[in-house]
Amino acid sequence: MPNFSAYLTAQTARVDAALERLVPAAAVEPTTLHAAIRHSLFAGGKRLRPVLLLAACGACGGDEEEALAAACAVECIHTYSLIHDDLPCMDDDDFRRGRPTCHKVYGEAMAVLAGDALQPMAFELLLQSAAGPGYGAADLVGELAVAAGSRHLIAGQVRDLEGEGRGLSFAELRLIHEGKTAALLTSSLRLGAMIGGASAAQLADLSRFGWAAGLAFQVIDDILDVTQTSEKLGKTAGKDAAAEKSTYPALLGLEASRAEAARLTEEARAALEHFGPTARRLGELAGYLLKREF
Ligand code: IPE
Ligand code: IPE
Ligand code: MG
Ligand code: MG
Ligand code: MG
Repeated sequence: MPNFSAYLTAQTARVDAALERLVPAAAVEPTTLHAAIRHSLFAGGKRLRPVLLLAACGACGGDEEEALAAACAVECIHTYSLIHDDLPCMDDDDFRRGRPTCHKVYGEAMAVLAGDALQPMAFELLLQSAAGPGYGAADLVGELAVAAGSRHLIAGQVRDLEGEGRGLSFAELRLIHEGKTAALLTSSLRLGAMIGGASAAQLADLSRFGWAAGLAFQVIDDILDVTQTSEKLGKTAGKDAAAEKSTYPALLGLEASRAEAARLTEEARAALEHFGPTARRLGELAGYLLKREF
């Protein structure tokens, strides 16, 4: 079995190749729109949600090849959320994934439209992955729609914006992180599990894994915003303090935030205890999310 670093490189390349194949080429009309979509999609994202989706499918004994289109679907939702997150009316960011943001290159209207188009594209792609035994296409569509919707991902974004300039409680901050980050990450795992034909118990275990790993992921995102350079992150560092966002480091300090991320990662790993060797990659991925530097 390849070491983790070789595995991650191979899985990322596999997702990139599938996106290249499944997303309309920049030459497809309307060409500005497809070029704008591809500008953000192929800018060097880490592809963590699709890689987690594939690993969850594998952990449940499914065929990862069958899950590739769904893996692309969650990356489309994630990329749209970043394009809109960066707009001047939201976080107003000029850099993303090491490139000027979509609206900087294509203008605000085209960036909004690129994000709009990526959402139904995600569901179009999702339907190209067959659900495993015990599940149907409606389960997959419902899963992604709820996670990306007004009670989860968008709720997190709304709370994040409304929290600017206010000292939030720890519980309020956690609610933001669950919505804006943990929901889609958990949904990625659940989709992989459903395509892999997970038992009800496996699906529940992977949900627990996702909520804990997803929260850890956002705590680390907040920490990196304080500790890393813009070059390394591929996005402008120090933005959270500048926008007076409530973050883990702002509320708890850096050391306590790191400890909380480590605790959440342990909680995530503990959720895998019933799986055995098939979940090895998921355990490794949780460790990688904690240690990442960008
Ligand atoms: C950034 O996500 C936005 C968050 C939800 C924290 P990633 O750190 O996964 O960004 P990419 O996909 O690698 O650019
Ligand atoms: C973004 O959170 C979450 C979504 C796009 C849903 P952040 O605003 O913290 O992400 P970055 O730091 O800009 O990547
Ligand atoms: Mg934001
Ligand atoms: Mg942002
Ligand atoms: Mg951030």
